[in-house]
Amino acid sequence: MNEGGQGILGQVDFTPADSPPQGVRQPTRQDARRVANPLLFLRAWLAHPLRMGSVIPSSESLCRRVVRQGWPEPGRAVLELGTGTGVVARAFVAAGLSPERLILVEIDPQMAAHLREEFPGATVIEGDARQLPALIPERWQGRIGSVVCGIPLVLLPDAEQRRFIDAITAVAPGRGFLHYSYCVTSPLPYRRHGLTARREAWTPLNLPPASVWRYQLAG
Ligand SMILES: C[S@@+](CC[C@H](N)C(=O)[O-])C[C@H]1O[C@@H](n2cnc3c(N)ncnc32)[C@H](O)[C@@H]1O
Repeated sequence: MNEGGQGILGQVDFTPADSPPQGVRQPTRQDARRVANPLLFLRAWLAHPLRMGSVIPSSESLCRRVVRQGWPEPGRAVLELGTGTGVVARAFVAAGLSPERLILVEIDPQMAAHLREEFPGATVIEGDARQLPALIPERWQGRIGSVVCGIPLVLLPDAEQRRFIDAITAVAPGRGFLHYSYCVTSPLPYRRHGLTARREAWTPLNLPPASVWRYQLAG
């Protein structure tokens, strides 16, 4: 992001909690398409449609909303679960977050390899987000500022959803998590999981239209 909060994301109404690094290279359309890699995404969907939950990567409009809601405090990292080809991560970087403050967890080996190429400074973890406590490097323990979950939890039974929620709570206690979804109502039965839920944002400019939800442990 350049001075005044204007980056390729357009005017954003948040103030980053710390200074963006000097000389951030604004990505071009070509960069954006290379990161999104729709063909890699489609191939992964053909192989694992339920695990992917979407045929195409999230739109810039949705990513912008996630960045706005998930900006971390100084010195803390963003933990992204189900990074896919990296469009949300790219939006954080385009807004001025140093890639060194990104922890990206992706179960698909090809996409994890793609993420390593695109975000050389980030911590890319090829693994299952249900195993988070065993996956997060020690240097990041206690330093996760926000958690963004792109894994299609709505397609899972309660007990499986619970495993993700427990894993997130273990590595980022008290932080809650953001989860984006195409559902009109909450994608998680939050009361049954002992959570509070708030819909923070919605965009019609995603295929299909999507909401960004914030979940926190109740009480
Ligand atoms: C809907 S896609 C979201 C991709 C990307 N965040 C975006 O917005 O375009 C869901 C992603 O979650 C990944 N995923 C599914 N289950 C996972 C798990 N248990 N652990 C880590 N990643 C997982 C899938 O491989 C896929 O890349």
